[in-house]
Amino acid sequence: MKNFVSVHDVTDIDALVKKALAFKLNPFGEKSLGANKRIGCLFLNPSMRTRLSTQIAAQNLGMEAIIFNVGSEGWALEFEEEAIMSGTTVEHVKDAAPIFGKYFDILAIRTFPSLKNREDDYSELYIKQFIKYAGIPVVSLESATLHPLQSLTDVITISESFKDTRKPKIVLTWAPHVKPLPQCVANSFSQWINAWGKAEFIITHPEDYNLSEEFTKRAIITTNQDEALKDADFVYVKNWSTFNDYGKIYESDPKWMLTNKKLEQTNNAKVMHCLPVRRNVELSDEVLDGPNSIITQEASNRVWAAQAVLSEILKSNG
Ligand code: CP
Repeated sequence: MKNFVSVHDVTDIDALVKKALAFKLNPFGEKSLGANKRIGCLFLNPSMRTRLSTQIAAQNLGMEAIIFNVGSEGWALEFEEEAIMSGTTVEHVKDAAPIFGKYFDILAIRTFPSLKNREDDYSELYIKQFIKYAGIPVVSLESATLHPLQSLTDVITISESFKDTRKPKIVLTWAPHVKPLPQCVANSFSQWINAWGKAEFIITHPEDYNLSEEFTKRAIITTNQDEALKDADFVYVKNWSTFNDYGKIYESDPKWMLTNKKLEQTNNAKVMHCLPVRRNVELSDEVLDGPNSIITQEASNRVWAAQAVLSEILKSNG
């Protein structure tokens, strides 16, 4: 594995899941793999789980993890080629990234979308520029359109939680929120579940909340949440803002919030969410605090997902 920015960087999803679950049983099995290696984790945006789980994963492999909150503590970076830097940006990525490439063995980056211009966000300029100029492997800690470490975690969590021989029915349901959120988690979850190919996959959302077909194309899509939830084994709850009229909130009807009453239609489904979650807006207290919620298990698996990815990168890149 050279970089890890989407499911396309993974040749065998099940093998990566198996590796992650082996780390869960034996966290220090490759303690010497990362000796004398350093990962730089650059945060242009806030994080809790991604930051901590990546640090722990790196340490489990014997690596040193250095965190740089570049968004709040560093120079404002310019990403456009041939920019005339007479505005607010202070340093060009083509000057900064090669330096990160000398300081670190792996570079990990979190960068959210602007939600202002869809073409710009979906070009993934920021992460592509880091790949172009850093000269070392790049790991996405969530980019403008995808969150692959979260999605790998989600496949791990579903794999370890579902023991039946049939395919699980997985429902991705839109939920209300108070502010426009990126489509990253929903895009990425769709991309991974489709690529995994081991589930019946249904996406439900209100009118006008379609996601990019690039990621959803093999899923069944419906605006009828009740119909989607019927017999579900897993319900993945997530808000996202509009894709067509980009980055807007069209709908906030609380009827889209998952409740215990709605869960009755499912096959006693496990409920997932990437977190952070707005309680009693996206998901009700009764569901989050009830027996069907596996959100803590899911978040704890972030460590093993990150560790499996870092291990693969270290092995592929010497
Ligand atoms: N799910 C997730 O990425 O959480 P953080 O934003 O806290 O890292």
